[in-house]
Amino acid sequence: MAPLLLRSAVTRAEQRSFAAHGHVRLPGLWERALAERIAAEGRERRAVAEIPRRGPRTPVTARRLPRRGTPAASGPLLARVHLSLTGTARALTGRLVVPTFAAYGYYQDDDEVFLHIDTEQCDLTLLTTVFGDVGPLHVHPRLIGSTMERLGELESDPGWDRCGGTRVTYPRTGVTALNGHVLPHHRPRRPAPGLHAVAALCYRSLF
Ligand SMILES: [Fe+2]
Repeated sequence: MAPLLLRSAVTRAEQRSFAAHGHVRLPGLWERALAERIAAEGRERRAVAEIPRRGPRTPVTARRLPRRGTPAASGPLLARVHLSLTGTARALTGRLVVPTFAAYGYYQDDDEVFLHIDTEQCDLTLLTTVFGDVGPLHVHPRLIGSTMERLGELESDPGWDRCGGTRVTYPRTGVTALNGHVLPHHRPRRPAPGLHAVAALCYRSLF
């Protein structure tokens, strides 16, 4: 099978940026043609998407409307991309990471994500835009070390500044790497008519 990736190496600058900030954009990892195939698979797999039973659950109070949950689905092409990016993930983190799960996540009409950290299955999370227009994640280095309960309190507080944090976008022909188990992140509610999808590819560190 032909290799999927244009490059798996990362630069020193990308390594340093990830180490310093907990996130870095890695654009241009694959051709536009592969991005289109991923988008096609993502659209096709929507029909079998389900709301995952496991995953981060931010404990919010009744003041915040509970979200429906984000339907997710896997796919054979996404699984190949996930595996192919293992070398990139190791080079970026300098850790022996292994793929855990990869999924398309679908957002219909709004793309809100509550403030959370990723599960222990995601020492490294790679995010790519699949189709549509999902807004940037806001990452919160000042909240590193907060419990999920504390993140839930903030999410439930109408006075919490939902526009705060550093905005992080994700390319279509590559990924944004996120230290998602450490770095709290959220996406503020905004109207997003139609269907949109991102893919998250997670890796766990063996040591
Ligand atoms: Fe996350």
